[in-house]
Amino acid sequence: AKPLKIAVIPGDGIGVEVMPYGVRCLQAVGKVFDIQFEFEEFDFASVDYYEKHGDMMPKDWKEKLSNFDALYFGAVGMPDRVPDEVTLWGSLLKFRREFDQYVNLRPCRLLNGVASPLANRKPGDIDFWVVRENTEGEYSSIGGKVFEGTERETVMQETVMTRIGVDRVLKYAFELAQSRDRKKLTSATKSNGISITMPWWDSRVVEMSKKFPDVAVDKYHIDILTAHFVQRPDIFDVVVATNLFGDILSDLGPACTGTIGIAPSANINPNGTFPSLFEPVHGSAPDIAGKGIANPVGMIWAGQMLLGHFGHKKAADALLKAIEDVLGRSEPHILTADMGGKGDTKSLGEAIEKEILALKG
Ligand code: NAD
Ligand code: IPM
Ligand code: MN
Repeated sequence: AKPLKIAVIPGDGIGVEVMPYGVRCLQAVGKVFDIQFEFEEFDFASVDYYEKHGDMMPKDWKEKLSNFDALYFGAVGMPDRVPDEVTLWGSLLKFRREFDQYVNLRPCRLLNGVASPLANRKPGDIDFWVVRENTEGEYSSIGGKVFEGTERETVMQETVMTRIGVDRVLKYAFELAQSRDRKKLTSATKSNGISITMPWWDSRVVEMSKKFPDVAVDKYHIDILTAHFVQRPDIFDVVVATNLFGDILSDLGPACTGTIGIAPSANINPNGTFPSLFEPVHGSAPDIAGKGIANPVGMIWAGQMLLGHFGHKKAADALLKAIEDVLGRSEPHILTADMGGKGDTKSLGEAIEKEILALKG
């Protein structure tokens, strides 16, 4: 088989610190399961690059990246140096839009060995997917300011939903629900308050559900849904949400499973016209950057999703098991501080790498 060509984009802060362990774990899996990778690293999509070049990426970034099978992305943002909206709209949000990665798939799973902040929850109780619309919705550039600097100063930013955009992500979420044992889909809405776009979203869910009669559908307004994530996480199987609601739910869900430091995110272009992007859910964490203590599991698990995306099911299952086995041993000198341990990025990253290398393909 041809090698998988992976563009490695570490970004900023802890993105740079966790990326090497992501790559090493993929290389280790490649060795065991005979999968070839070709990694090429890029220094753009970072604040350093911005300060040197006045832009987050070179003009020809799209040509440079289009021929890769996937992008493996760390995290971007150093808000003390460059405003977040500049760095994120200049990199990650550009990738999602221009590469039409309209599905953002994010698992919430309570793993063995990781303590949940929720009382009396054990592995198996929390195991669901958030499917987040990833190219439109509340994240729009339609809007502006008028009467700036006066008392009448007014700012607007429109939510944009299209039938194609919403239907395609709903279809993906319904298909995912259909493939699972429980076959249950929950839609995040707010049609009581957001009175134009959200009732329409609800109507698209009803319409799509007609094509999936075996999938049980329910919906909750986003406010009570966040409460249910905390108090009844066991009722969820697949949760589909707009861009902003999905963003919020996909930090809350992983927090309920112990730490956002372990959560991965697959930004998928399902038809394969453009590369998909795999990244941790977390950001560049300026508060801990440079200390070598960031949890590398989100980055490594993102690599696991990459393997699954390309059909390497055996390898993907083995990598997830290696993560679970290492965490499950609950060794304080291995685990990072966000999981209550005394270890660091290196101890945990290398323990997972070693666990993989001990496997047989
Ligand atoms: P964050 O995820 O970077 O950090 C939130 C908190 O979680 C911090 O206290 C941090 O120390 C902790 N944390 C995050 N990841 C961790 C890990 N792997 N191990 C241990 N602790 C971890 O979110 P934020 O503080 O809102 O954002 C910081 C910067 O990152 C901002 O510039 C923001 O815009 C950016 N950001 C980027 C991405 C991305 O590139 N995908 C995602 C989220 C935020
Ligand atoms: C995420 C992040 C991004 C988002 C930010 C950094 C723009 O929070 O991937 O969850 O809101 O999508
Ligand atoms: Mn987020």
